[in-house]
Amino acid sequence: MEKEVVVIGLGYVGLPSVVNHVKKGHKVIGFDIDKRKVDLLNKGISHLDTVTDETVQMLKANGTVFTYEEQLIREKDVYIIDVPTPIDKNKIPDLSYIKSAVELIKNKVKIGSLIILESTTYPGTTEEYLVAVFSKLGYTIGVDLFIAYSPERIDPGNTQSLSAKIPRIVAGHTAECLSEAKLFFGSHVSSVSNLKTAELAKIYENTFRLVNIALADELQIISDDLSIDVYEVLEAAATKPFGFMKFTPSLGIGGHCIPVDPYYLTWLMGARGVETPLIETAGEINDSMLDYYLNKIVAYIGKNHDKNLDKKLDEMKIAILGITYKKNVADTRMSSVISLIQKLKERNSTIVVYDDILYSTTNITQNNVSRLEQKYHQLKEFDMVIYAVNHQLYEDNKANIIRNSQLFYDLTLV
Ligand SMILES: NC(=O)c1ccc[n+]([C@@H]2O[C@H](COP(=O)([O-])OP(=O)(O)OC[C@H]3O[C@@H](n4cnc5c(N)ncnc54)[C@H](O)[C@@H]3O)[C@@H](O)[C@H]2O)c1
Repeated sequence: MEKEVVVIGLGYVGLPSVVNHVKKGHKVIGFDIDKRKVDLLNKGISHLDTVTDETVQMLKANGTVFTYEEQLIREKDVYIIDVPTPIDKNKIPDLSYIKSAVELIKNKVKIGSLIILESTTYPGTTEEYLVAVFSKLGYTIGVDLFIAYSPERIDPGNTQSLSAKIPRIVAGHTAECLSEAKLFFGSHVSSVSNLKTAELAKIYENTFRLVNIALADELQIISDDLSIDVYEVLEAAATKPFGFMKFTPSLGIGGHCIPVDPYYLTWLMGARGVETPLIETAGEINDSMLDYYLNKIVAYIGKNHDKNLDKKLDEMKIAILGITYKKNVADTRMSSVISLIQKLKERNSTIVVYDDILYSTTNITQNNVSRLEQKYHQLKEFDMVIYAVNHQLYEDNKANIIRNSQLFYDLTLV
């Protein structure tokens, strides 16, 4: 049945969510406090590399409304909250966006509205920030209003993982809340018995990745010391058809999820007096890899130049290929390449950054990022090329890139 749906927060999760719900036949209003994004969307222009302008124009043609005007989201059937859940510089969860989204809708819901939180957060958030607030306003949850939690599992940049096809975990505050949410989401739904279980399942998924990437990082250090090719080890281990999943070492995990979400759990458990040493150590290993790789780069230069290493780095003009947090996306949030560039600049290297994927994202002015536009001969003027992000465009031209590099360092493989 067609519903009037409000999606709050039109970022990497919210905008694709608008697309999915429009495709399912609902009438959708996309709300964001960022006027710039709303204005662009209303002009038929996407502010995200993961959603095309054509898709935004299709949404507009279908009657989808994009707005920052609060009065337009009154008394709708469904409210979906897709706002950020970052950590601060001390790795403490910042729930202010969820709080402000709840403030926004608390006087606008109607009897029978379904409110779904999709942001990633620690167990207990939906009860504390939604159920408690609406109960205090006099609503009986499960009768007057329905509250559910359903974490988003979208994988930006992965064209195989259309979010509508990824199974959803759904939990409701009551059985009635759950059945309303299940009815709304339809297929590909896996329900769990309570809100906290759904919240913990999502954080566990991302913590699982952090811990396993940290283990692969440690394998890199072990393999380097033993003069063994870490990738050959990983490929060999991956031939086991059960009980093994391949993760690869990295300069440091970036993005809005894996370097953030586990700290929601460690913070919560710390406040409850429960230790989480494995997760914390994994985080520390992840944080330490930047210096490890910087040392590897310096050693590589030394091996190839046979000169005073640090001095050589000082003098070098270096091209960095790719600055985003992962391949084929234009998202630089928490990208370790940015930290690497900072460290190289501290050592007085001259750095020029190329990222054709980031640059080609319309509508966002990217300072200090250039594009190669396939003119790989330009790389000849650099002392070294650091291949930091293996965007498909660069992968397809890798041989050409290597041919034009005086010294080529492949960070995507180390
Ligand atoms: N990006 C991902 O790949 C991904 C995947 C799964 C889950 N998540 C989770 O989904 C949530 C959203 O992440 P994202 O990547 O879409 O963030 P984002 O920063 O791309 O988008 C969030 C949007 O919310 C808007 N916003 C903030 N406060 C608001 C308010 N009070 N009212 C309306 N709009 C508001 C911001 O302006 C922004 O446009 C986070 O909890 C994140 O952990 C993200």
